[in-house]
This record gives sequence, structure tokens and C-alpha cells, in this order.
Amino acid sequence: MNKSTMISMAVVRRLPKYYRYLSELLRRDIDRISSKELSEKIGFTASQIRQDLNNFGDFGQQGYGYNVKELHREISKILGLHREYTTVIVGAGNLGQAIANYTGFSKQGFHLKGIFDKNPKLVGIKINDIEIKDIDTLPEFIENNTIDIGILCVPKNSAQDVANIFIEKGVQGIWNFAPSDLEVPDGIVVENVHLSESLMTLSYIINEAKLLKENK
Ligand code: NAI
Repeated sequence: MNKSTMISMAVVRRLPKYYRYLSELLRRDIDRISSKELSEKIGFTASQIRQDLNNFGDFGQQGYGYNVKELHREISKILGLHREYTTVIVGAGNLGQAIANYTGFSKQGFHLKGIFDKNPKLVGIKINDIEIKDIDTLPEFIENNTIDIGILCVPKNSAQDVANIFIEKGVQGIWNFAPSDLEVPDGIVVENVHLSESLMTLSYIINEAKLLKENK
């Protein structure tokens, strides 16, 4: 078993946040940080941070803090960000176009290779220099261009059909925005993204604060 497979998913889900803050520190030429300072910035407790970061090496030193560069490099490796990935978007509507237009993913190593839709009115239009192609050409496209990640931005009722094409053609990971629980065989990874869940969390916090005020 390698180091990364021993790390729990709960820790993995916190790693991008560490990675983001450490990237910011690197940009500001800060070379070390204590768990207390990290805690103030990130919002996790200092002991949570020490526990999390102990999972993958001895980067913290008593009285010195964490070596930002080394920790950043290690987290990047664990998250697989030292590699490059190829992606396609299926569903070039509001969401698909927004994702295609965001250039930040490519800077992080996620390279968009194709955009597909079933609507003939969209086929041929260029988004971020990539021409939207007909969905019928997706299987052949994946065969000819090794694609690591399929980004699903189609309505719920089309999601499984498109996922099946990804699965059949050997796409390893599906970034699923459709509100649909996909059925996939072992070995295919699905990461569901639900912005509304985040919004509900926000609603909870606002609501709690209101209740607290009202009960004062
Ligand atoms: P939209 O209607 O603007 O775009 C959907 C596109 O998918 C259309 O261009 C349509 O022609 C295409 N499409 C439909 N069936 C297809 C198929 N079988 N093959 C290829 N293309 C197909 O919808 P919007 O607003 O972009 O939302 C897309 C999906 O994302 C929906 O499932 C929506 O519920 C979901 N969504 C999820 C969010 C999240 O936080 N996870 C946030 C916003 C939307």
C-alpha cells in the first residue's frame, strides 16, 4: 500500500484547502508557517492540522513550524497534481460553457480537449478556442485522444447515457455536475459536485446566526 491509499477520504477532502493556502504562502515568499497560523487562516483547529499533516511525513518541527515548500510539494504529489490530465466536457449549456471558459483548470494541469453537445445549434461554436462537436463523435474522439476525465454537464435524464460512453471508452474519472447518482463499475471514479449543497450549508450558518440573535 502506498502513502496516498492509506490516507482517509476525510483528510483527502481537506487537502485542496491546505494546498490552496500553501500556494498563496509560496506566492508571498513565506517559507514556514506554524499550525496555529495555518489554523487561523484555514479555520481548522491546530490539532486537526497537525493530525492531518502527520499523515504524510514529518514536515513540522517544534518551534519552527511547517516548511511551506516541502509541504506544498508533498500535498501536490498526494493529490496527483504533479501529473497532467486531459478532459472533455459533455453538455455545452450554461454550466458547460462556464467551465470551458475558465482557464484556471488548465493552469492546474487539467487540459480541456473537447466539448460535446447534442444540440446542432451549438455544434461548431467555439468556446475558449475549442469547437463544440456533435455528441455522436464523442466515442471516436475518446478513442483517438486519451481522455482521463469526463465532465458531465448534461441534464439529469441524459447523464447515465453519457457516463456509459465514458465508461465504455476507458475514461477513468467522471466529474459529475448532473443531479444524478451514476452507476459505474469498479475502477471508475465519480466525483459529484453539487453547488446547492454548499448553498444549503451557507443557509444553515445564516439561519443559526439569526436564531442566536432572536434568542438573545
Ligand atoms: P443547459 O440546459 O443550459 O445545458 C445542458 C446542455 O446539455 C444543453 O446544451 C443540451 O443540448 C445538452 N445535452 C442534453 N442532453 C445531451 C446529451 N445526451 N448529449 C450531449 N449533450 C446533451 O443546462 P445547465 O444549466 O448548463 O445545467 C447542466 C446540468 O448541470 C444540469 O444537469 C443541471 O442540473 C446541472 N447543474 C448542476 C450544478 C451543480 O452544482 N452541480 C449547478 C448548475 C447546474
